Amino acid sequence: MTHFYRPEEGHGLPHDPFKAIVAPRPVGWISTRGSDGTVNLAPYSFFNAVAGRPPIVMFSSDGEKDSVSLARESGEFVCNFASADLADRMNRTSASVPRGTSEFDLAGLATAPCRIVAAPRVAAAPAALECVVTQIMQQHDRNGTTLDVWTVFGEVVGVHIAAAFLEDGRFDTAKADPVMRMGYRDFGRLGPVFALDRPDG
Ligand SMILES: Cc1cc2nc3c(=O)[nH]c(=O)nc-3n(C[C@H](O)[C@H](O)[C@H](O)COP(=O)(O)O)c2cc1C
Repeated sequence: MTHFYRPEEGHGLPHDPFKAIVAPRPVGWISTRGSDGTVNLAPYSFFNAVAGRPPIVMFSSDGEKDSVSLARESGEFVCNFASADLADRMNRTSASVPRGTSEFDLAGLATAPCRIVAAPRVAAAPAALECVVTQIMQQHDRNGTTLDVWTVFGEVVGVHIAAAFLEDGRFDTAKADPVMRMGYRDFGRLGPVFALDRPDG
């Protein structure tokens, strides 16, 4: 027996399972800066890397939220690594506050300067990716109807790694302890890490 549903007809469950199925997702903790000096920070779990050379990441916003409009305006954003020890503060930065209120201040997070982009990064984050916007796409459904969903892509032009998380020249993801978004109110932490050799070398 399986529970099958067509999303357009509703899921037929008490809560939407979609995000719990596409899980776990990394959290792109996006910092941006407006031309007026406005600094913004918010978590996005519709976030991932889409290319390695050059490195390109994306985040997707349900409606044009401040992170999107500030990335559009400045052409830049920073993606901070959300570690489990920062989970509570990361969550606090998702509060809806008027543009101009810094979520860094709201969550008691110190900023650190970036090298290439104007936006600050989260000083306590194990890593941060400085990004230049390459595309902002408005999503549409299968019928071509435009949706109020905006996906921002950015090329990574600068990478910060806190020295404590470099082990033998590798970024120690397990030590950095990423917080992972699942569905509902659930988050996860990394379990055991194992390596696999590729069949074709
Ligand atoms: C863990 C987490 C993940 C989130 N992921 C997304 C997301 O992928 N897309 C989205 O539109 N909102 C997401 N949100 C909600 C935004 O963070 C929230 O709406 C925030 O106020 C947006 O801030 P901004 O307007 O400063 O960009 C997420 C919230 C949390 C706590």
